[in-house]
Amino acid sequence: MTKYSNNLIDNFPDYLFNKINQQKLALRQSGEDIIDLGYGNPDIPSHELVVEKLIESAQIKKNHKYSVSKGIHGLRNAIANKYLREYEINLDPSKNIVNTIGSKEGLTHLLMSILNKGDNVVVQDPSYPIHHYAPLIAGANVIKIECLSSENFLNNLNTALTSQKVKAVLVSFPHNPTTLTVNQEFYDELVRLARRYNFLIINDFAYSDIYFNEEKPPSLLNSDPQFDHTVELYSLTKGYSMAGWRVGFAVGNESAISSLTKLKSYIDYGTFQPIQIASTVAINELDDYPKEVSSIYQDRKMLAEEYLTKYGFEVYKSTATMFIWAKLPDIYKNDSMKFSINLLSKSNVAVSPGVGFGNCGEGHIRLALVENKQRIRQAMKNFAKIIDSV
Ligand SMILES: Cc1ncc(COP(=O)(O)O)c(C=O)c1O
Repeated sequence: MTKYSNNLIDNFPDYLFNKINQQKLALRQSGEDIIDLGYGNPDIPSHELVVEKLIESAQIKKNHKYSVSKGIHGLRNAIANKYLREYEINLDPSKNIVNTIGSKEGLTHLLMSILNKGDNVVVQDPSYPIHHYAPLIAGANVIKIECLSSENFLNNLNTALTSQKVKAVLVSFPHNPTTLTVNQEFYDELVRLARRYNFLIINDFAYSDIYFNEEKPPSLLNSDPQFDHTVELYSLTKGYSMAGWRVGFAVGNESAISSLTKLKSYIDYGTFQPIQIASTVAINELDDYPKEVSSIYQDRKMLAEEYLTKYGFEVYKSTATMFIWAKLPDIYKNDSMKFSINLLSKSNVAVSPGVGFGNCGEGHIRLALVENKQRIRQAMKNFAKIIDSV
């Protein structure tokens, strides 16, 4: 049979999470109740006001037509006002903002629109899988830099920059999977390096709105007022719990935004207009909703952390994201996949093995807090089955 796939796709390594996903599916098919803390798919519903606005605007016939690929003006204006309100950053909706189909699509097409074949892109290791693959899709080379601490990352980046020309540095804070956060000084230093070595910094800001204790994660753009070297990807997925709606933005550097806008204008006709209208309402009127969502995750996090600490896991302290990142007991230290498979088969609890996010994630697991407290408590009790056997 003729094979229809190119070298790029053929050479993609097997998705490491597939092993867990297949086992999860098999167990479910055999009637087991799996508590899924593996897949970071938010379980909290979108706000009812947004759903109502979607229904109302879907009933207006003119909204059924093609929309605008870069996003309707009202939506881009809403995100500009949000950045002004929350970060005191001035974005021009016509130059510095483009609507994307979530942060993931935005990132991939952004890289495709600004990179040439063979360009070098720095990526954190561990990181969200598309961060490793989007540069490859764009034909670039990936330079992975360990990022279990922000200090290590900056030191290693400094070293890498002295020996290689880098076109872009991709970061993401608050970070998935490690839950690491950074302060504005970190970004100041990164921008100083970008000016010196002339590269673009891209911050995937998917977890911008999931934080606790008033410690609002800073925006990269505040370290680069003219956006000479910076682009940020903002998303409604996590903060507004609108994962399935696929609404995000690329904001910042005018030239990069223009390249992405141009590429997207060839590829898509924009998100369904009622979704854009409802998202505008979310951004303009629901500043408090991400706070409500955050406090639900915080509650779940405290509960799970209590158990994990009792079981002897070293849990990374963090005041952001919807995840827990934990170091495995010594016996499993070098095999997070084995731990996760054993946990699933003995305890019916799915978690993500750290190695799935990159080699530097080995020895860790990530828990996504996307089940309610009752089920998280049950999951934590089930953990004991494997801990006792360690
Ligand atoms: C770092 C990071 N970026 C992007 C995404 C996906 O965001 P979106 O739904 O906006 O594409 C996720 C989802 O888990 C993520 O963890």
